[in-house]
Amino acid sequence: MAALDAILNDIDTDLENALERLFAFLRIPSISTDPAYAGHCREAAAWLAQDLTALGFDTSVEETSLHPVVLAHKPKPGAPHVLFYGHYDVQPVDPLDLWKTPPFEPHIANDGQGGKKIVGRGASDDKGQVMTFVEACRAYIAMHGELPCGVTILIEGAEESGSQGLPEWVAANRERLGCDVVLVCDTGMWDRKTPAITSSLRGLAYFEVKVTCADRDLHSGFFGGAARNPIHVLAKIIADLHDSDGRVTIPGFYEGVHERPAEVLEQWRGLGLTPETLLGPIGLKEPAGERGRMPIELVQSRPSCDANGIIGGYTGEGTKTVIASTASAKVSFRLVDDQDPKRLAESFEAFVRARVPSDCQVEVITYKGSRAISLPFDMPQLEAAKAALQDEWGVPAVTVGAGGSIPIVGDFKRILGRDTLLIGFGLDDDRIHSPNEKYDLTSFHKGTRSWARILAALGQG
Ligand code: BES
Ligand code: MN
Ligand code: MN
Repeated sequence: MAALDAILNDIDTDLENALERLFAFLRIPSISTDPAYAGHCREAAAWLAQDLTALGFDTSVEETSLHPVVLAHKPKPGAPHVLFYGHYDVQPVDPLDLWKTPPFEPHIANDGQGGKKIVGRGASDDKGQVMTFVEACRAYIAMHGELPCGVTILIEGAEESGSQGLPEWVAANRERLGCDVVLVCDTGMWDRKTPAITSSLRGLAYFEVKVTCADRDLHSGFFGGAARNPIHVLAKIIADLHDSDGRVTIPGFYEGVHERPAEVLEQWRGLGLTPETLLGPIGLKEPAGERGRMPIELVQSRPSCDANGIIGGYTGEGTKTVIASTASAKVSFRLVDDQDPKRLAESFEAFVRARVPSDCQVEVITYKGSRAISLPFDMPQLEAAKAALQDEWGVPAVTVGAGGSIPIVGDFKRILGRDTLLIGFGLDDDRIHSPNEKYDLTSFHKGTRSWARILAALGQG
């Protein structure tokens, strides 16, 4: 215990330096989805690799079909071995004009509640969270000379693009990823005081639909009323996706979706998450989605469908009387339980095609999907991690479901046969994927301390 106290103390006294390191990482605009930033993704991988090399990890930067991964090893024969996974890529920053400060100029600001926050794209998702683990390793090595367990670190650069290329890389490198358990820091706390272990993630299916009608843009005076308008065709497809009760209308969509047992629903009801508490902070109050379900069900245990973007016709200043030739939309589905993204791809495409007139064309692009994940409650490492979190935060850690997705977690189970502990320190108001993303200084600091405690606890197992 004396050793752990020294490590925790080192984390406290080194906080300023840890922030400088995180800021250097945050300054690199590693946006994975935009090919223009591919060089910066590489730069982020290289930055991390040099940091891990300096800590004594045997580190390499390795190619995948998209952006490179960073792989770092520090074996410890005879001790348990953990695989830590995270991502160095970030989401695009648009709309840029809504940022109060430039997204890649990280800094500390007051959070307006007496605390401080780290502001910048990636602060919470996921560079800040990745660095909580790296900083815990740094303090451990500095104070103790070695880590309490064997550690492999795998940080990828395409998570925000559906982890494109990563499952293939993991399958090809199975034997280098051997571990007892996977650790991931890419999820949130229950609230600012209560740590959480996430026990389920929703899956994802993502499509793009491009409708083409006439072979050119048309003057809407010459053709309006006679020629088909692709924006209308597309809008009808999107509108048809939900019925008036908020249910998705694609045939077979709810196959594989299970109802939660009555006692779970009762317990959720007791948490008091109302439409007001969920929607109030984002400026809304009327619940949308499936009628008659609690908000917590809607975002954790029920599937959903959203149009994520729509493009067509004239969107510039002023007016233009035009019937566009094409219109397109991006549409995604969050999946739960046993819903199969491949089957959905077939039924979605059929649903779309049935709504396109015979003289028009439609292209349906299917991006890589992932199934929902639910983690076992009897993992041997779970109790140790919970106890470590309680030691740090002073209150018991809760187990929660999450509505987001981390596609590779299912592959870790399928390919490596290993379960994952999802432990993160993000907060609901971190604005991940949005302008003005932040990570509370407390999340970063106590998150780092939490990992030191978790590593110590796992090392004893
Ligand atoms: N870190 C998030 C996922 C997340 C956030 C899970 C909070 C649980 C709680 C991750 O980076 C993310 O945004 N995933 C994407 C995956 C997609 C691009 C394939 C998502 O969920 O949209
Ligand atoms: Mn993330
Ligand atoms: Mn994300």
